[in-house]
Amino acid sequence: MPTTGNNVFTPWATVALLTALLGAAPTLSSAQDAENPYTSRIDVRTGRRLFQAQCSTCHGLNAAGGNESTGPDLTTGRFRHADSDAGLFRVIRDGVRSTSMLGLGADADDQSVWQLVTYLRSLDVTAGGTPTGSAAAGRQLFAGKGACTSCHMVHGQGKRLGPDLSQVGDRRALGDLQTDLVQPDTEVSPRWWTMKASGPGGQIVEGLRMDEDTFTFRIMDSDEQLRAFSKYGDWTYERLQRSTMPSYAETLTEDERNDLAAYLFSLRSEP
Ligand code: HEC
Ligand code: HEC
Repeated sequence: MPTTGNNVFTPWATVALLTALLGAAPTLSSAQDAENPYTSRIDVRTGRRLFQAQCSTCHGLNAAGGNESTGPDLTTGRFRHADSDAGLFRVIRDGVRSTSMLGLGADADDQSVWQLVTYLRSLDVTAGGTPTGSAAAGRQLFAGKGACTSCHMVHGQGKRLGPDLSQVGDRRALGDLQTDLVQPDTEVSPRWWTMKASGPGGQIVEGLRMDEDTFTFRIMDSDEQLRAFSKYGDWTYERLQRSTMPSYAETLTEDERNDLAAYLFSLRSEP
């Protein structure tokens, strides 16, 4: 049996071990050197909420800048103090020395800081390119052949089976809008999950998952009719983490999708 095992328990070795552990700790948690792990659509929304609550007094509600002295426009995609996501992370957490930009501080949780980075990145309208399609043609398709108004509302026209798109250009880059049309299931927030109920006679009701409690659940079908079901009746049900929105990869041409994306991209809040 070798005797070296005893050395591990000498005080000196313990100190060395502790030093090693403490030294390692900052590396393990140095999120600011990593890639942004929070970049989904939901993170954009959460980031926007955080921004409006904590940053908009100086940078404006849509980050386009308050007045000259309070905080700069953050929507251009170019930052004086950062050239990467990791750099933005540091600015948002640590602030800009000797200015009123204090940052959230060392105690801020990494996820929130990254979500703010994601939100700011989503504002750079040039990042996803500029539209090649015709917004005017897209507008026609939206209410016409595309039948998007059968689920979506724009400026009060349409239905509520999908998110209101009146300002979708503020929150989605052009590339995201194109992806939305061909891969609607990529990231679906629980609010828009599909609920599928199967009856004893083989009936199927599929639609938007509305409220759900211990005993009942409700589905909104494609006619915007609410249907209530007992969880303890003859019907079985399943939650599908996919969108009720169909993919338009086959049913619309690429040109039509580009027109629609151009139209959606133009839907923004008034400055
Ligand atoms: C009290 C006002 C104030 C608040 C609140 C504030 N900022 Fe700032 N921010 C500034 C000012 C002023 C600057 C410009 C600093 C400089 O370079 O002189 C700045 C700079 C920045 C920059 C760097 C811009 C660049 O070009 O590099 C980022 C990013 C930023 N702020 C994000 C945020 C975020 C995110 C929040 C909320 C968590 C926030 N700020 C809250 C005032 C504020
Ligand atoms: C059957 C209902 C339905 C139809 C028809 C439909 N959508 Fe959707 N759409 C949804 C739902 C539900 C969501 C939210 C879940 C998701 O992200 O897929 C959504 C999401 C979207 C998004 C992302 C919105 C955001 O806030 O991020 C865009 C853009 C979009 N739809 C555009 C369209 C366009 C353009 C059409 C017509 C060509 C269309 N949709 C037709 C139900 C529909």
